[in-house]
Amino acid sequence: MAQLIGGLGTSHIPAIGSAIHKGLQQDPYWKPFFDGFPPIQAWLKEKKPDVLVLFYNDHGLNFFLDKMPTFAVGAAPEYHNADEGWGIPTLPPFKGDLDLSWHIINTLVEKEFDIVTCQEMLVDHACSLPLKLFWPEGDCPVTVVPICINTVQFPLPKPGRVYAMGKAVGEAIQSWDSSKKVAVLASGGLSHQLDGERAGFINKAFDLQFLDSLESNPEWATQFSVHELVEKTGTQGVELLMWLAMRGALASGGGSKVRRVTGNYHIPISNTATAALVLEVA
Ligand code: DHB
Ligand code: FE
Repeated sequence: MAQLIGGLGTSHIPAIGSAIHKGLQQDPYWKPFFDGFPPIQAWLKEKKPDVLVLFYNDHGLNFFLDKMPTFAVGAAPEYHNADEGWGIPTLPPFKGDLDLSWHIINTLVEKEFDIVTCQEMLVDHACSLPLKLFWPEGDCPVTVVPICINTVQFPLPKPGRVYAMGKAVGEAIQSWDSSKKVAVLASGGLSHQLDGERAGFINKAFDLQFLDSLESNPEWATQFSVHELVEKTGTQGVELLMWLAMRGALASGGGSKVRRVTGNYHIPISNTATAALVLEVA
């Protein structure tokens, strides 16, 4: 069976792509953010996952307000990146993993998560930036299965439901008939609000408590409703649902014990509290 080796997390912000493109990693504004990544890159070099299951939220590129799935799973041979135009220049397509995609889809539907399947899927900065941050040089060496969670148009899924979906994805990975090594990734947040009266809102105390909970008390954030999460983390801070899905995957199949390999928290980049994290399945 496939091996689920661990979970990664990172914020995604289009300006990060622009900083990568301009080589600003050592610039005083950017350094505290980019310094979080060499330990993650080293972990990936050592552990060499073959596949990355990527929990992310689309921002109006592949899904718009007219059609908005709560959960959507990619089942495409490759995923084309379409950048918004103010981040990193568009990257070559990322290779999919059809066998794992369909195994996850079959498992999720069997477990009563009635997801949308996407045999074509454009991916935005939420997919392209983590891959570029983790593997800054050359092509990305893993195949990917993107799983999109709606954080754009209400109603949004409840945190508990997202955690359960992540857990079901973890069970799918661990029952996949393959000798491959799989890692799960959360792309999003942490606290941020891009518009409205509270634009620029960041909640460091909540973010740090949330990051701690991912290690030792993974269901902690499921006590909150989506509206409570918005109140505590900002309208876009709900992207932390991605981290909850990632942690849910690690909690599947008895693998609930995790070890924090490395972590970084920095505020702000643009309007966002950023975090980077690796949790290894113990
Ligand atoms: C920003 C943050 C995001 O999560 C995003 O998708 C776009 C922009 C920002 O802080 O600029
Ligand atoms: Fe975002």
